[in-house]
Amino acid sequence: MEKRYFIHTYGCQMNLHESEKLAGLLENAGYTLASEPESAEVILFVTCCIRENAEQKVYGHIGALKRYKTENPNVVIAVGGCMTQQKGAAEKLKEKFPFVDVIFGTHNLCDFMRLLEEKSGRKKTLIEVTEEDSESENTPMTRSSFPNAWVNVIYGCNNFCTYCIVPYVRGRERSRAIPDVVAEVKKLVESGYKEVTLLGQNVNSYGNDLKGEGGDFADLLDAIGREVRGKYRLRFMSNHPKDLTERLVAAMARNENACHSVHLPLQSGSNEILRRMNRRYTREAYMEKVGMIRKYMPDCAISTDVMVGFPGETDADFEDTMDLMERADFASAFMFVYSRRQGTPADTMPDQIPEEVSRKRIMEMVAAQNARTAAHSAKYTGRTIEILCEDYDDKKQMYLGRDEYGRMGYFSSDKDERGNFVTVKVTETNGISLYCEKV
Ligand code: 5AD
Ligand code: SF4
Repeated sequence: MEKRYFIHTYGCQMNLHESEKLAGLLENAGYTLASEPESAEVILFVTCCIRENAEQKVYGHIGALKRYKTENPNVVIAVGGCMTQQKGAAEKLKEKFPFVDVIFGTHNLCDFMRLLEEKSGRKKTLIEVTEEDSESENTPMTRSSFPNAWVNVIYGCNNFCTYCIVPYVRGRERSRAIPDVVAEVKKLVESGYKEVTLLGQNVNSYGNDLKGEGGDFADLLDAIGREVRGKYRLRFMSNHPKDLTERLVAAMARNENACHSVHLPLQSGSNEILRRMNRRYTREAYMEKVGMIRKYMPDCAISTDVMVGFPGETDADFEDTMDLMERADFASAFMFVYSRRQGTPADTMPDQIPEEVSRKRIMEMVAAQNARTAAHSAKYTGRTIEILCEDYDDKKQMYLGRDEYGRMGYFSSDKDERGNFVTVKVTETNGISLYCEKV
């Protein structure tokens, strides 16, 4: 009998890529992708716990499967990802949703097929959440984001920003070896991928754990530049400002495949808040990094992550953040309301900010950044740019893709352009998007 699987993925690119590995493992064992969850024999959740609303969403979607599972007792429901790796979370999940078959942690991905097998025929929920990692260089992958391909370069995080749950659920930093990463990138480009995105919680902290023996992120970019030729775009995310060195910016500038686009999470523009976040930089140091990027690549688009409502954030702190966002002139920004995460130091800090205050601040911030983003877009009018076509938008009946700087452009074409580099002229802009004509 044909066996089918379906994966629900929540959260960041790292999770999307983990789902590609789980899909690879399942397909290796003869499973095929189901067109919808209701026709699958294995339903998987790859979860996120970075903010409370991410967790609520996952809970809602798992809960909605109860009836389906009662009517189809042979269907296997498995939950993995960041949520399950939190202390006590697996037990809580099992109690709340006893119909879930397998719960596995972030370090147990490579054991997934064994867990499926062990579970078969057993009634009780099977839990496997360990601290040791099962990560392997030989995990099969079924990639799902052509023409882009994700490539892990470093796992985990050592920073313990006081608001963040990631170091608790992803463990300490572990870098892959440069030759392994280069070989993967090379294979991808040779097989037709047009964009490679190097992934890490702090991708530019690459090599810190190798103690100088394996090279740093600048060395990795140079090695890729030397050994992987051809037309493709190289991106990487996310960066920690403390490890954004001049060496790295120079390596980026001399690598002709590296996009002039840097995602550099700011989090806050207030020195006092940055200190209490344990971010290890000041607003002045952050602006120096921005200046350094623009010195080497004047056209570079800088984007960021930023939050409001960290414990103790005063109006003056918030204004400092607004001021820095203006000075840095971010091309775009992901803006969040601080969310308390159990087990993190910030959760027990005094002066948690009332929701109304945070809501007012985030609205003000989003409005200011939207205007800035739109102004960046408006400058594109009349320019000729190159878009890497990713997809077709059925509603708009247009193809879409991004330029080197990450800005989304739409255009019409009478042939299938997915996976092509297309030269277009920008005729109109709308907020974050560009509307273009093929030239
Ligand atoms: N609350 C709100 N936002 C958070 N982030 C990380 N932890 C939290 C939290 N507890 C944001 C940061 C990070 C991005 C991935 O998510 O801005 O850069
Ligand atoms: Fe979280 Fe800070 Fe690590 Fe980023 S650097 S994953 S925000 S602890």
